[in-house]
Amino acid sequence: MQTLFITGGAGFIGSALIRLLIAESGWRIVNIDKLTYAGNLESLGAAGHDQRHIFSQTDICDRAALDALFAAHRPAGVIHMAAESHVDRSIHGPGDFIYTNITGTYTLLEAARAYWSCLNEPGRTSFRFHHISTDEVFGSLGPAGMFSEETAYDPRSPYSSSKAASDHLVRAWQHTYGLPTLVTNCSNNYGPFQFPEKLIPLMILNALAGKPLPIYGKGDNIRDWLHVDDHARALRLVFERGIPGATYCIGGCNECTNMEVVDTLCTLLDQQQPRADGKSYLTLKTFVADRPGHDRRYAIDAGKIARELGWTPRETFESGIGKTVAWYLANGEWIAHVQSGAYRQWVETNYGARQ
Ligand code: NAD
Ligand code: TYD
Repeated sequence: MQTLFITGGAGFIGSALIRLLIAESGWRIVNIDKLTYAGNLESLGAAGHDQRHIFSQTDICDRAALDALFAAHRPAGVIHMAAESHVDRSIHGPGDFIYTNITGTYTLLEAARAYWSCLNEPGRTSFRFHHISTDEVFGSLGPAGMFSEETAYDPRSPYSSSKAASDHLVRAWQHTYGLPTLVTNCSNNYGPFQFPEKLIPLMILNALAGKPLPIYGKGDNIRDWLHVDDHARALRLVFERGIPGATYCIGGCNECTNMEVVDTLCTLLDQQQPRADGKSYLTLKTFVADRPGHDRRYAIDAGKIARELGWTPRETFESGIGKTVAWYLANGEWIAHVQSGAYRQWVETNYGARQ
């Protein structure tokens, strides 16, 4: 049985990938996660208790701890997605983004390189370091065009510039040291278990609580929505079959304005959980001051991963968002634990002391 390191596996996308890999692959997974506010082991569900899932509460900036993990588990590769991930937080406090996204990626690259350089020839050739990044590194689009693997970098926010820096480090470790790396840049993810600071879960939970739905600016900024389970399938394909040194863009082919997203959510909630007062959730929409430096439009041309690896998304926005609203309505316990902070105690209860 081969071992795979996944960093950030207690986060939104990492937990989706671990659920997929435990259900559908033979990988043994070492989940390396510091458990910041965004890390929630409850999101792993039954996969979190599987014998092929080993959790280590570790900061990716801790080189000694990483070296010990590489020595103990001897992985065949790393999928790196531990990061600070929320643009608004990066505007209010960029320090954690520089620390984790840049210094953390550097530290992990160095630990991986030290381990990889001592492998035998077949092990060095088959090893992969797969770095998960964002389309936000490409900047902001006007009304036409799409981001692709050829698009020049032009990040605008503290978050996207820290991710861009980490992408450059990963490519430099490939060009300079020959570490077999892969980079994927994906669009906005949505789906179950997303922390309610991001647009879609924030709007669903605010609506259910009868709170205002804060729409930045005019609500006409555009994002390309990718269901997290489609993304997880794409990540598995790239990790297992991608060409070392290559980049793949992953998008949902689902461009919507923020207003369209909020209107859709309100309409679905009106159908699935009508308000007691008979009013529509649409009445909760509230325009607020715009995000500083708010990128206008993101859209991904996912043609390369379709042509080379045969991946296309299974969910349309219509199918995926309906399931997502239904999931939030059916998973009150997960939401209550996130809102009360009880999810933070879950690791001690279920995993005992730090491993
Ligand atoms: P998330 O915020 O839900 O999870 C991040 C995880 O990383 C958490 O479990 C957290 O505890 C962990 N972490 C943070 N700092 C750490 C550190 N120093 N050491 C170890 N673990 C640490 O993020 P997500 O939405 O799951 O995103 C995962 C990756 O995908 C990130 O790299 C992000 O930049 C990228 N991405 C996300 C989206 C999206 O829409 N969510 C889109 C494009 C790219
Ligand atoms: P977000 O989920 O934070 O993702 P990102 O900034 O990485 O794209 O935001 C998605 C879009 O929704 C973005 O254009 C900002 C907007 N937005 C709001 O209008 N109101 C909100 O409360 C939030 C969190 C986001």
